[in-house]
Amino acid sequence: MKSKGRFVGQRWWSIGGLPSVFLLCLFFFLAGLFGSTLVSHQDVQLLTVRPRSRVLESVEEFDVLPNGDTGEHSLTSIPFQVLSWFPRALYFPNFATIEQCQGIVKMAKADLKPSSLALRKGETAENTKGIRTSSGMFISASEDKTGILDLIEEKIAKATMIPRTHGEAFNVLRYETGQSYHSHYDAFDPSQYGPQKSQRVASFLLYLSDVEEGGETMFPFESAQNMDANYDFRKCIGLKVKPRRGDGLLFYSLFPNGTIDPTSIHGSCAVIRGEKWVATKWIRDQEMDE
Ligand SMILES: *[C@@H]1O[C@H](CO)[C@@H](O)[C@H](O)[C@H]1NC(C)=O
Repeated sequence: MKSKGRFVGQRWWSIGGLPSVFLLCLFFFLAGLFGSTLVSHQDVQLLTVRPRSRVLESVEEFDVLPNGDTGEHSLTSIPFQVLSWFPRALYFPNFATIEQCQGIVKMAKADLKPSSLALRKGETAENTKGIRTSSGMFISASEDKTGILDLIEEKIAKATMIPRTHGEAFNVLRYETGQSYHSHYDAFDPSQYGPQKSQRVASFLLYLSDVEEGGETMFPFESAQNMDANYDFRKCIGLKVKPRRGDGLLFYSLFPNGTIDPTSIHGSCAVIRGEKWVATKWIRDQEMDE
């Protein structure tokens, strides 16, 4: 490109007697120049506007490798967004279908009871009233005759690469207007709860409904903000994740070395308008009994 340009430039001075040839050259040179800037400009636009489709395209062109006995012979695409490193939190858009969400809500509705808390020394049901005001129920994938929870559980296992045997039963929760869950840890600190047989490593929340207003999952200490002794556990601050039906939120309660990540504290902001439905799966470092 550059040498061509210089060639045309020399002609300008030496071949004054052949204006038509020169003009023709100039025309093609300029056409080439503008054409190429136009194309490269479009490339840039394509990259910035539609990066996702490019990523998917390249995945489709990938030749799958021979899989092991416990592996799979095709590629799985589960898109996610890293929401935070402190705590380690990932967002999975469209993790479940609308029909799957509706099915889970339907199976949970009949069995809802007021949600309870794991109590620390000195805590009673009475003096912890108001900390968690949702209703909920537990259901394992094997109890669900529709097969929906089986599919969801398998997908969670793939997304986390933690086997299904490490998951507790699904806890399906409903928050009505005004209901919330003060900030808390899903992991159990032995200094507060006594020795633990196993520990919760991560939590996967599947949002089963949209919420008109409020009801966000909040991480008040995200990136070590607000970590002072005066933090009011009711306060809806920090990183807030707005529930969207079918989307999943995964976060880790433990660091890779097994200690509790202080920034994994989280809660549910009060629902202001609408109703919030969520299915939670707690994932442990040990296999569950049974
Ligand atoms: C565990 O990992 C965290 C985060 O990297 C670190 O801050 C902490 O000191 C570690 N604790 C132990 C006991 O190794």
